[in-house]
Amino acid sequence: MRTVTVALGERSYDVLIGSGLLAAVGERTRDAAGGRSAVVITDSNVAPLYAPAVAASLAGAGYVAHVATFPAGEPHKTLATVADLFDQVFALPTPPERTTVVVALGGGVAGDIAGFLAATLLRGVPFVQVPTSLLAMVDSSVGGKTGVDHAAGKNLIGAFHQPRGVFIDTDTLATLPPVEMASGLAECIKHGIIRDASLLAWIEQHAPALAAGDRDALGELIARNVAIKAAVVAADEREGGVRAHLNYGHTIGHAIEAVAGLRGGADTGDYLRHGHCVALGMVAAGRIAVARGLLGESDARRVESILAAVNLPVRLAGLNGAELLGIMRRDKKVLAGAIRFVLPDRALGRAAVFADVSDAEILDAIACLS
Ligand code: NAD
Ligand code: GLY
Repeated sequence: MRTVTVALGERSYDVLIGSGLLAAVGERTRDAAGGRSAVVITDSNVAPLYAPAVAASLAGAGYVAHVATFPAGEPHKTLATVADLFDQVFALPTPPERTTVVVALGGGVAGDIAGFLAATLLRGVPFVQVPTSLLAMVDSSVGGKTGVDHAAGKNLIGAFHQPRGVFIDTDTLATLPPVEMASGLAECIKHGIIRDASLLAWIEQHAPALAAGDRDALGELIARNVAIKAAVVAADEREGGVRAHLNYGHTIGHAIEAVAGLRGGADTGDYLRHGHCVALGMVAAGRIAVARGLLGESDARRVESILAAVNLPVRLAGLNGAELLGIMRRDKKVLAGAIRFVLPDRALGRAAVFADVSDAEILDAIACLS
């Protein structure tokens, strides 16, 4: 098992990464969060796969454990879902107390929803993350950003609330659909672009193994990415500085997600995934960087070929630049009216924030996606 510590003073916590960890969630939760009751929050896909094992582990560690579920998928990451989960939690035979531990089991949607519920239930209860998608393992379960989407845009409602522990059982990836695996790889490629060119080269080299779900490669990938995310969060928990670099590809990506993701088929699961939108956002941001002389054309093309090698989109027809710009103006990342862009800073592996990217540059970059 590998351990990465997120160093946040008295709110520090460990991220445990290994095979078979689901069976130890109860014991680990007791060590990290204490309490006597626990509520597992999970989605309709993950519940039948892993909730029984997690609930049994919690019960084995002495918890009175319950499971509350919501319909899977980004279109359900809403306040209405949180309200329904509150109804379920308050109707439980064991009413929640301030020491009740929320256990977020599933992908980033479950983690963001459960974390937000934990941040607001009785004005805040402890929670732990048990991520089961690659994206949640390498990114969303670490760092304490929680929340839900609004019709006006992605993640516009939320709170910072750090988990007490993150327990990553890599065995759960065996059931993750390939499209979700690719979505998670987008955030790993992002980490390479903004922080670690050697990770990018490693992903490039291991793309076939990663796309095929090779266990050893995935274990190393998760550990390297958690270490990057933990270091960034430890340096800047509330996104006053360097944490903003994690938003690379997300400015245009979130806008694409708002039109092609959130509005997509909530019931059919036919919507563009978060990582796929981020991949497109990274391609567009790369184009802005090339036009500004911040990135060589060959580096931009190299990133596109790495994205394509792990089955991520690098083009999307039918995007409306003006519509995306309107959405970007409502994004959390807007400061004093300026859309703030993270761009590579003269090389892959380094990034900086730019507040002077013009509408024309953004529209040109979006046009490159067609
Ligand atoms: P998701 O939670 O919707 O999971 C993807 C799909 O995979 C879902 O259908 C889910 O039911 C299924 N699934 C998950 N684990 C599975 C498993 N082991 N086996 C079978 N199916 C499984 O989406 P995601 O890609 O995990 O996360 C995306 C979300 O994360 C977005 O809402 C994004 O905004 C958020 N996010 C948050 C942060 C943060 O810091 N809080 C960072 C990055 C992304
Ligand atoms: N995924 C962006 C962040 O955690 O800050």
